[in-house]
Amino acid sequence: GLVNYREVLQYAKEHKITVGAFNSMNMETVQAVAAAAENKRTPLIIQTYHAHVDYAGPDYIRAIAQTAAERSNVKIALGLDHGRSYEQAKKCIESGYSGVMIDLASEDYELNVRETKRVVELAHKVGVSVEAELGTIVTADETPEVIAEGCTDPVMARRFVKDTGIDCLAVSVGTAHGAYKYAPKIQFDLLKELVDTVECPIVVHGGSGTPDEDVEKMVRLGIAKLNVGTEFFTAYIDAVKEMTKGDSRPDIIDMMRAARDAVRVTADAKLDILTRFRV
Ligand code: 13P
Ligand code: ZN
Ligand code: NA
Repeated sequence: GLVNYREVLQYAKEHKITVGAFNSMNMETVQAVAAAAENKRTPLIIQTYHAHVDYAGPDYIRAIAQTAAERSNVKIALGLDHGRSYEQAKKCIESGYSGVMIDLASEDYELNVRETKRVVELAHKVGVSVEAELGTIVTADETPEVIAEGCTDPVMARRFVKDTGIDCLAVSVGTAHGAYKYAPKIQFDLLKELVDTVECPIVVHGGSGTPDEDVEKMVRLGIAKLNVGTEFFTAYIDAVKEMTKGDSRPDIIDMMRAARDAVRVTADAKLDILTRFRV
């Protein structure tokens, strides 16, 4: 069955890998990323973006991810990504998710702490892990200067982890959500300080479009979890477009299979980097 974040992040630390946290929202994407993880013999976090949870229903997603976990030889966790509220996190926990992110980083510090703590209390009672965020992870059409303004303060990060008891912390170090308009400038010194001094595993978001050599450096510095979304969605959509191009009545299975295969290729490439320094 599904394991919690704590278990996969512990594996990451012991084996010097970074866990891929891949945004998935249907059977095809779940099967693709699970097959890639199995092939690389590495644990995996399947995560669903908050809007995708609302779209599909957490119970449906959980059923698909659980089937993948039961059939797999590697540890698989299922998490809510960028949860908007305590209520949304609660729904996912009740549906059998093994991890939840509560993202109140845009709120003031006190509110972020208070609500995150409520989620931690609820989640930890049933063995579910919690990720929260400090700093601002903006969208990738912003300039590196604007992205840098949201970077996580390490002093506040250490305090936030103590104040909340979370299992992993999402930080802002120069990556951004979506496809980059400008080349990202990752603040590796800041990231190193965060990894070395914050009391819990560190999560980097905005994996899509981040150059492979930057991802490799972040893996080397010891980030525990890398979130990747957009690249999977783009691969999926492009494959469907290609498949249906000039064919007004494509076979639905051919279309779904093309999407699944494309997501698998993307997952293979990411996991290659994330497991490169395995011990
Ligand atoms: P990308 O879409 O840039 O890969 O970011 C994914 C993410 O951070 C999900 O939380
Ligand atoms: Zn994110
Ligand atoms: Na990105």
